[in-house]
Amino acid sequence: MQLLIHIFVALHIIGIASLLGGFLVQVKSMRTGEARMVPAMLHGALTMLVTGVALVGLNQAAGSSVDNIKIGVKLALLVVILGLVYVKRDEEKVAPAVFGTVGLLTTANIFIALLWT
Ligand code: HEM
Repeated sequence: MQLLIHIFVALHIIGIASLLGGFLVQVKSMRTGEARMVPAMLHGALTMLVTGVALVGLNQAAGSSVDNIKIGVKLALLVVILGLVYVKRDEEKVAPAVFGTVGLLTTANIFIALLWT
């Protein structure tokens, strides 16, 4: 079971790489208002959701408790991220405030995951 949990944490991290990577490579374009929600960001956000929910289930199946408030906050932020990326996915130019929010909330979720004990 622990091996499975570690595999899903690895997939969870690949999801972060895809979502945050899609954001970071466009920081310069964001400044000129030319950034867009690339498919890697949408797929990364979906990967975060699927692997995150699976991790909750796997941890509970293994008998270890997860912090429901922490997971709830992470889920709430991801729902906002996913909503923004999905709704704006076909727009060629996304407003810097909207695009920046995705990067900010993703970064916030990383710190919540690692610092909230
Ligand atoms: C942008 C969104 C997210 C980011 C950046 C993120 C980040 C992370 C990171 C870095 C870890 C590894 C921490 C560790 O193992 O010590 C982790 C673990 C985990 N994540 Fe996420 N996560 C996100 C969304 C979610 C969602 C939506 C859920 C559940 C619905 C979730 C559930 C979990 C669980 C259960 C673990 C393993 C247990 C724990 O350390 O709390 N994550 N996440």
